[in-house]
Amino acid sequence: MSKPQLIIFDTTLRDGEQSPGAAMTREEKLRIARQLERMRVDVIEAGFAAASPGDFEAIHAIAEAIKESTVCSLARANEKDVRRAGEAIRPAARGRIHTFIATSPIHMEKKLRMKPDEVVAAAVQAVKWAREYTDDVEFSAEDAVRSDFDFLCRVFDAVIKAGAKTINVPDTVGYSIPAEWGARMRALIENVPDADKVIWSTHCHNDLGLAVANSLAAVQNGARQVECTLNGLGERAGNAALEEVVMAVKTRKDLFPVETRIDTTQIVAASRLVSQITGYVVQPNKAIVGANAFAHESGIHQDGVLKHRETYEIMRAEDVGWHANRISLGKLSGRNAFRTKLAELGIQLDSEEALNAAFARFKELADKKREIFDEDLHAIVSDEMVTPEVEHYKLVSFRFHSETGEQPLAELTLSVGGIEQHAQATGSGPVDATFRAIESVANSGAELLLYSVNAITTGTDAQGEVTVRLAKEGRIVNGQGADTDIIVASAKAYLNALNKLHARAERLNPQL
Ligand code: KIV
Ligand code: ZN
Repeated sequence: MSKPQLIIFDTTLRDGEQSPGAAMTREEKLRIARQLERMRVDVIEAGFAAASPGDFEAIHAIAEAIKESTVCSLARANEKDVRRAGEAIRPAARGRIHTFIATSPIHMEKKLRMKPDEVVAAAVQAVKWAREYTDDVEFSAEDAVRSDFDFLCRVFDAVIKAGAKTINVPDTVGYSIPAEWGARMRALIENVPDADKVIWSTHCHNDLGLAVANSLAAVQNGARQVECTLNGLGERAGNAALEEVVMAVKTRKDLFPVETRIDTTQIVAASRLVSQITGYVVQPNKAIVGANAFAHESGIHQDGVLKHRETYEIMRAEDVGWHANRISLGKLSGRNAFRTKLAELGIQLDSEEALNAAFARFKELADKKREIFDEDLHAIVSDEMVTPEVEHYKLVSFRFHSETGEQPLAELTLSVGGIEQHAQATGSGPVDATFRAIESVANSGAELLLYSVNAITTGTDAQGEVTVRLAKEGRIVNGQGADTDIIVASAKAYLNALNKLHARAERLNPQL
């Protein structure tokens, strides 16, 4: 590397998971973490250890599995959180504790009900506890954007003296604009004593659609770490999108004094995996990873690109991993090829039994579909990883009838806690009939917030991937289902969401 490194800190598994319904299981988080490691992300924020036993377990498992990236846990500035984070990252080859406390007048007064002096003391103490576990301690001043500048300098000075090695400056509420954010970063670096002994980091939310622009402005003004998420997933309007930050720095080398270690050819695979697991579909015109990001529609553009690619393209599609998964497996592929492909994708199934079941699903799909792509394999594995204890509702058999001039009818048998129940219902369409039939058995009382269908790959034989978002008593879950038949995929997605509502444990939200 000839330029100084820009550290890419991915928080898809923590801030990204705070998107409504995006909660992930331990296995799902592990799959994403392995893909992040393959992409050479420097720091993986694997979760918030004190939030729930499930979060703790997931961070611990990721700390055990990941060797190349630093694994980090978030912790509020209190002893219990910090010690929990310390325990969670203990197995990591490189572990980091990221502790934070709010520093803006509104947060200190209304949320924390703490005096500024108490906030400084809590921050210092949290960093000292964290240093008992690792030298790699990051401190964040939550709502730095609305914090008093002199107070921010005072807090940062104190935590650097206490042993923090990375100082993160968050725009928690997505309020800043690039010129202001860049100036704030520069002023902090110029005014905080020993600023040159630490890494300065930026963490921007996207409420005004400026998270990436603000992050890049901070980099041009001295930040050497960007906190971001794949597809810009995250609380409210999301966080800065990793793929956009990385490609801006790579494409505009002339403007940035830094470079990243990211293997950009892994970006599309990572984006797809996150979208598939969380059910957050990527909009077609999304920069870098949207289906249309490299598609030229107008005749003038097509003509130009055919004559000389750079007329309309500033990046190459293959540099971010488009078309990289063209070959995968086919009907004749055997168990060994299947196992090897899963390993390449970072997928580890727990047992031979799980592998056999996934292989049987693969063969079934290969009979219906000419080519199997990586995304298809991820979808199969997502289905297979549903453990029996969380599969309270299970589809046993399903039939539906739809004909011009007739009301669509769905008939199904569900296993509910191991007991089979039959149901049938009509609806305005086959999906409506299917959901009504399921509800006539489940009686969940959940509200349907979102129903979306997406083709996993191209071609009419592609698997349809359905996302169903349900809300009940303040909890929101996303369910996914994939099948070459989209009505079956819809039934699977609805049942997956019901199972999540049934199984879901309470968790803490770090911003509360
Ligand atoms: O947005 C924010 O302030 C955060 C902190 C916990 C870093 O996510
Ligand atoms: Zn955040």
